[in-house]
Amino acid sequence: MEDLSPNKADLDPIEIASIDEIRALQLDRLKWSVRHAYDNVPMYKQRFDEAGVHPDDLQELSDLAKFPFTYKNDLRDNYPFGLFAVPRNEIIRLHASSGTTGKPTVVGYTKNDIDNWADLVARSLRASGLRRGDMVHNAYGYGLFTGGLGAHYGIERLGATVVPMSGGQTEKQVGLITDFKPDGIMVTPSYMLNILEQYHKVGMDPRESSLKVGVFGAEPWTDAMRKEVENAFDMHAVDIYGLSEIMGPGVANECVETKDGPVIWEDHFLPEIIDPETGEVLPDGEMGELVFTTITKEGLPMIRYRTRDLTRLLPGTARSMRRMEKITGRSDDMIILRGVNVFPSQVEEQVMATGGLAPYYQIELYKSGRMDAMRVFVEAEPGSADNMSKTAAARMLTKRIKDIVGVSTEIIVGDPGDVERSQGKAKRVVDNRDKE
Ligand code: DLL
Repeated sequence: MEDLSPNKADLDPIEIASIDEIRALQLDRLKWSVRHAYDNVPMYKQRFDEAGVHPDDLQELSDLAKFPFTYKNDLRDNYPFGLFAVPRNEIIRLHASSGTTGKPTVVGYTKNDIDNWADLVARSLRASGLRRGDMVHNAYGYGLFTGGLGAHYGIERLGATVVPMSGGQTEKQVGLITDFKPDGIMVTPSYMLNILEQYHKVGMDPRESSLKVGVFGAEPWTDAMRKEVENAFDMHAVDIYGLSEIMGPGVANECVETKDGPVIWEDHFLPEIIDPETGEVLPDGEMGELVFTTITKEGLPMIRYRTRDLTRLLPGTARSMRRMEKITGRSDDMIILRGVNVFPSQVEEQVMATGGLAPYYQIELYKSGRMDAMRVFVEAEPGSADNMSKTAAARMLTKRIKDIVGVSTEIIVGDPGDVERSQGKAKRVVDNRDKE
């Protein structure tokens, strides 16, 4: 793989500023943001008043811990625009996510917010190894989802050429990559596997493609998956993180020269890690729930937003800003089987490590008597789809999950193509526990 480390002179100075400088900037911006929220959003005023805190109480960064949390439900309860801190006519873009239940959550951006977002995605792409003049194939979905348009404006801001392909139409994706010869691709890691499959279907070698780097995110993916995709395409695979409530893609991004977890763009977002049960702030290095406070957002300021993503904060390496450990899962996705906590990513690691299996999987939860039980659907690699190989792979995966993850599972090894393919974010867990 090509060395794509960026030239230090091309970075935003704040990316490599001293910690003191970064903390001073954060404190200034945090004070502004908390006051902006209090003065312009009735919910924040009411919450702060009830908790007996006031924007004036913010004298240092650690004072933020005195302020109450904000939850996804607060966006639903104030649907659609109740948490906006500027008049509706100053909002130039809306996005929304269709939660699984109830109303969607709606987010809004002012012109400055859109401008900062494009800057931060451009910064993320530069960290990923892309440059002005490169071409980027954008297969994140366009529309209300923040992935497509968020990536799009960042690619343009970088000075690169955007191919606004969106998700789906896998045959066409491969056709365009072959004809246009992009340097980079932006897509969910699970959909990248579908693109890989299409290369094999048409008998083309993905290692011969023009792609030098993939910027993958919007769902958890493991280092095992990183290796799989890097080897298959002979390209770098880099992690991009974000969430609509805080901005969209580009809240944090990995550096291609280290690939050691996304760097949080701390000049715009202040991270905390808390104990999800007690709400207590944990020191850097400890695992817990990631909480974000926006410090420059005008349209929809978020104070101590509970992401439900589980990770820990790590010191800066390629940049001065702190990193987050690659996300292993969300508290929502945690499966508890006979007292053992299991994340889909732990199953993914074992699927990837088992010979004869393709990198597609889905987990089903069901009731076995009164107990919760788990079944994993995987599929054989095209060359290993005979019954003997399938039985051996199933036995091996069952043992690996039992020994390493610590739970008993039923493994069903299907034929190539049997596991449902995703167009965007993969659905890793199907919960049938309320069905007979
Ligand atoms: O998924 C924004 C995005 C688009 C990020 C494209 C990266 C690339 P939401 O739909 O609001 O926004 O979903 C946010 O997705 O809280 C995480 O649980 C998960 N997520 C996003 N990026 C990653 C990642 C977009 N790199 C939710 N690793 C977040 C693991 C991720 N999980």
